[in-house]
Amino acid sequence: MAHILAPHIREAIKTFAQGRQITMNNNYHLRLLTMAQSSELHDILKDRNISRWVAKFAYNYNPEQAIAWCKNSELKAKEGTELFLGLFDNESEKLVAVIGLRPESDIDGTTKAEIGYIIAKEYHGKKIAVKLVDTISKFAFKELGVSKIYSTTAEGNLANQYVLLRSGYENHGKTIVETNGRNPRISALYVLNNPLYQ
Ligand SMILES: CC(C)(COP(=O)(O)OP(=O)(O)OC[C@H]1O[C@@H](n2cnc3c(N)ncnc32)[C@H](O)[C@@H]1OP(=O)(O)O)[C@@H](O)C(=O)NCCC(=O)NCCS
Repeated sequence: MAHILAPHIREAIKTFAQGRQITMNNNYHLRLLTMAQSSELHDILKDRNISRWVAKFAYNYNPEQAIAWCKNSELKAKEGTELFLGLFDNESEKLVAVIGLRPESDIDGTTKAEIGYIIAKEYHGKKIAVKLVDTISKFAFKELGVSKIYSTTAEGNLANQYVLLRSGYENHGKTIVETNGRNPRISALYVLNNPLYQ
């Protein structure tokens, strides 16, 4: 598929393939998800209570899918088309969460971006998600200059809907999301507009 992203967006994404990090707070930082994390990623996703909320995965989630995801992360960052970042504990270097950011041209000529994220089970309830969404949203607005960011979430995923509302996103009703190996899912659509475009 042809990508017609603005050059500055591609260049900003490529910096992560060269080792760029984003500091989230004193405890955690973000950097590119690479093959080195495939096993940790599988550990996070093999929990059915986690993977059932992630539309892009089939129910029978397996280690090969984690490897494919990490390979894709490296490839997309080198192309400058999509970002998959890991959130790492500064001290232990443990993978705490993953977050994806996918920019795409919008029909009005601006660029919008979709985000999706997963926090490892043992880190739930530590207020990491809101800070993570806030950090990536600021990056997308400031450095990529996207006009809006959106995220879709299963209607029953109340924790995530709360996270998005707390991060300033607005509920824009329902949308249909393609899923991998399952029926398309009706999901809630949440949008955060870049104030510079208002
Ligand atoms: C959704 C998810 C990201 C939330 O992460 P988290 O680190 O537990 O979030 P936080 O600690 O910031 O807490 C979120 C808030 O939701 C609330 N919450 C948790 N479960 C809830 C529920 N079932 N109903 C309503 N609110 C709930 C928490 O109390 C907290 O509110 P508070 O700040 O007022 O105390 C995490 O559960 C996750 O990774 N789930 C699986 C994957 C997923 O759903 N990803 C999002 C789809 S893209």
